[in-house]
Amino acid sequence: MKILVTGGAGYVGSHAVKALVAAGHEVWVYDNLSRGHQAAVPPGRLIVGELADRNHLAAVMRTRKIDAVMHFAALAYVGESVEKPELYYRNNVVGTLVLLEAMRAADVSQIVFSSTTATYGVPQRVPTPEDEPQRPVNPYGFTKFVIERVLDDYAQAHGLAFAALRYFNAAGCSADGTLGEDHDPETHLIPITLQVALGQRPQITIFGDDWPTPDGTCVRDYVHVDDLAAAHAAALAHLRPGRGLKLNLGTGRGHSVREVVEACRKATGHVIPCQVGPRRPGDPPMLVADASAAKRILGWSPRFVMIESIVETAWRWHKAHPRGYSS
Ligand code: UFG
Repeated sequence: MKILVTGGAGYVGSHAVKALVAAGHEVWVYDNLSRGHQAAVPPGRLIVGELADRNHLAAVMRTRKIDAVMHFAALAYVGESVEKPELYYRNNVVGTLVLLEAMRAADVSQIVFSSTTATYGVPQRVPTPEDEPQRPVNPYGFTKFVIERVLDDYAQAHGLAFAALRYFNAAGCSADGTLGEDHDPETHLIPITLQVALGQRPQITIFGDDWPTPDGTCVRDYVHVDDLAAAHAAALAHLRPGRGLKLNLGTGRGHSVREVVEACRKATGHVIPCQVGPRRPGDPPMLVADASAAKRILGWSPRFVMIESIVETAWRWHKAHPRGYSS
């Protein structure tokens, strides 16, 4: 297939591009490089453009004869979304509306959308199945929830075929060491902990150790980015006109912050000094996927299930790229 990947220069998007190319698809990346990296895109495949530019998007899709879109382009910092919600509603919600209009104008009716566990807010059931009520607790999660609703309505009204893949915590770097995780600023637990191992930060602050969890620190379901990429590629074969698939992507295993820090200590061989700080507002105590529907429907299961092996792939990349893609 000919696939346009918005946000294909970003963390999950770039890994998906690699998986799609490996599966034999013709892939074009559409990215404004505001947070992504040119070095993460295969040579000659990058189209620099804005999601807000409907005419440009439609022209790109028409001239490249695009069959399907994978939509990763989004702002994805929970904290920033609380401080600057306007950025998130404009970029994520309005940006997606423009993309959908451009797709209609170019006669493209298939999309795989990057959704998130943040659409559930604080789930009552853990592991969480897809029919858990979605009650997002921050603007970021709300933007993704609204987009899922927009996709439902487009499917109903215009016959759009879509998959909304709700990732739990994307983690790790490509197993062959070619692609990594490079955010500025970095806020995610694993890369921050590896920066401590590299001597770039003095210590890690654990956001609360008085949560109602086994060791008092928050529990997350870390799913390898190559596995996320494989699920996106698999979803393409399951798109049907007028229908939407909504699937969790996770390992079904939860790891506490302390367990992740310990896995980083083991992988790096470095001491990781820790201090306990206050809880981070908006953090749910436990997020673990029930990903049985993705297994049943897509035939997808994660290849990386051990947190140690996920962290090892991240360490390999961060050690080789201590200043991210610019090193
Ligand atoms: N954490 C720390 N110290 C840090 C950084 C993180 O203790 O310096 C903790 C967090 O409190 C959380 C866990 O480590 O319990 C993981 O935090 P991340 O910031 O790595 O990831 P989040 O779970 O907050 O966020 C991820 C995605 C978001 C998505 C969210 C859904 O990055 O895009 O899951 O809850 F919205």
